[in-house]
Amino acid sequence: MAIRIPRIAPSQITPPEVFFNRRAFLAGALAAGAGGALGRAGAAVLPAAAGAPLKYSYDAADSVGALVHVPGQDEKPNTWEQITHYNNYYEFGTGKSDPAEYAGQLQTRPWSVAVGGEAEVTGSFPLETFLKPYALEERIYRFRCVEAWSMVIPWVGFPLAQVLKQFKPTSRAKYVAFETLYRPSQMPGQRVPILRWPYREGLRIDEAMNPLAFMVVGLYGRVLPNQDGAPLRLIVPWKYGFKSIKAIVRIVFTEQQPETTWSEAAPNEYGFYANVNPHVPHPRWSQATERRIGASLFHERQPTLMFNGYAKEVAYLYKGMNLHEYF
Ligand code: MTE
Repeated sequence: MAIRIPRIAPSQITPPEVFFNRRAFLAGALAAGAGGALGRAGAAVLPAAAGAPLKYSYDAADSVGALVHVPGQDEKPNTWEQITHYNNYYEFGTGKSDPAEYAGQLQTRPWSVAVGGEAEVTGSFPLETFLKPYALEERIYRFRCVEAWSMVIPWVGFPLAQVLKQFKPTSRAKYVAFETLYRPSQMPGQRVPILRWPYREGLRIDEAMNPLAFMVVGLYGRVLPNQDGAPLRLIVPWKYGFKSIKAIVRIVFTEQQPETTWSEAAPNEYGFYANVNPHVPHPRWSQATERRIGASLFHERQPTLMFNGYAKEVAYLYKGMNLHEYF
């Protein structure tokens, strides 16, 4: 499957002050002979502080940026403020502003990621080791929540497909499952049984190999804030937002379809696939339109697009499937 990812210069999507700071930072680091500290060219090195500039190869960032252009749609990226203050993260409460208020208490260092199941390479890896092989890229994706609101977000990360290449799932692996950290002492929402903790998600292996599936460590050229899923989250832009699991500590390759949090909590409302689909309503509301966060009150709701506008890139994955049945 060849997928063309249109190029967008970071300067077009990153606020100028962030963009120029990052370039100045890189230039300064290199001039001071600190280039070695960045690891090999393009390797992901993550400063611990949320909001700190991300050290990533400018060339890599320059080369990719995916926003499939949809004529007639206003695709201006949402602001940092909107993306970091209107969140869903039940580990910190069910209100949209709870994550910004309470996620600061989560310690994201030290952090490790365990990889297991049907793969040639398995083990538990400190985050720094886990991230090292990957060059970071900047991508602008539409983000559509199952609650029928949406944003446009400039993420920084690396393709999930590269993680699969690194750990080499065996031929028995049909799915990849993800798990969020379980730490009720710092995640107060986990002290309440509103969901079965820890939060879990999963994809089919071929979905995970699609070039749009993305592991995220940053936002607007900066380290991902806790409320958006630091230090490591998944983004699957053609699926409803609940598939995009935050604060990942475990990745397991499985033969059987893994249980996932929302489809377990309400199987008639949230399926395993959760592909954005304007033709399949949620039992309690329509999915035909969406409210773009930040749009003026007088702005009409906009139509929701099949696969969130990424049909050209992902429709082949669901050929022959009844999407009303596999919702
Ligand atoms: N991941 C975890 N661990 N816990 C959550 O509650 N919420 C999901 C998803 N990932 C959630 C999660 C939902 S419903 C959405 S819409 C997105 O995160 C929201 O991501 P955002 O807050 O960065 O916009």
